[in-house]
Amino acid sequence: MQTILILNSKGGCGKTTLATNLASLYAAGGVKTALMDYDPQGSTMLWHSLRPDELAPIHIIDANRTRRGLTRSWQLAVPQGTKRLIIDTPAGIKGGALQDLVRKASVIIIPVSPSPIDIHATSAFITDLLLIGKARSLGIHIGVVANRVRRNSPHYEPLSAFLNTQKIPFITSFTDTENYIKVAEEGMGIYELPEHQSVLEREQWLPLIRWLACPESPPQVIPDFPKLSLVSGG
Ligand SMILES: Nc1ncnc2c1ncn2[C@@H]1O[C@H](COP(=O)(O)OP(=O)(O)O)[C@@H](O)[C@H]1O
Ligand SMILES: [Mg+2]
Repeated sequence: MQTILILNSKGGCGKTTLATNLASLYAAGGVKTALMDYDPQGSTMLWHSLRPDELAPIHIIDANRTRRGLTRSWQLAVPQGTKRLIIDTPAGIKGGALQDLVRKASVIIIPVSPSPIDIHATSAFITDLLLIGKARSLGIHIGVVANRVRRNSPHYEPLSAFLNTQKIPFITSFTDTENYIKVAEEGMGIYELPEHQSVLEREQWLPLIRWLACPESPPQVIPDFPKLSLVSGG
């Protein structure tokens, strides 16, 4: 089983969006998928509760709810045969909580939105992830995804330079589009929209899907942050 942890201590950068879209993408592709929500705000739980019955099933686990009489490991167990476990996490994760989450992961995706404050915070967070989370020594692959990118989104260069020094790949860039809002409200994912309505989003997800299939090899073409941030959408 591949466990994909979506992490960034900043709120609003797209963790839940990535987690839910990724889960629905695998499920729609016939892959047995589980989705775990560590965020007490429960946005992923809410999304799952809105999911239409006719769509591919996703096993949901609320990591915040404790049920009497059941052990923690039993509550967090995924169904036998699960191929992908996607974990959504809250903002502000640090210290021991960060270490505990990192230990569960095969792969970590860090979404980052294009504000200078978020970009700065993300560099600091990745430093924590490497030092405190010890992600490298655990053999966990880390990739960064730019999210909510608009025309003229600024200033990825500092993050891009930082990622280069840490040898962390920048995987892809998602434009800010109405489709993400729409699918979030309907318990769906981008890949469950008709193809002709989601051409841009599908194209932008491909590098991430490819990387997740083989995270030990870096993306074939290392996309360039500033150029990719010019994709239209606003
Ligand atoms: N690429 C995108 N285009 C449009 N809206 C987006 C996009 N990514 C996220 N959003 C919206 O931004 C808000 C914050 O995203 P969310 O995934 O909840 O962030 P986080 O889980 O990191 O707090 C949500 O309302 C979500 O629907
Ligand atoms: Mg969230």
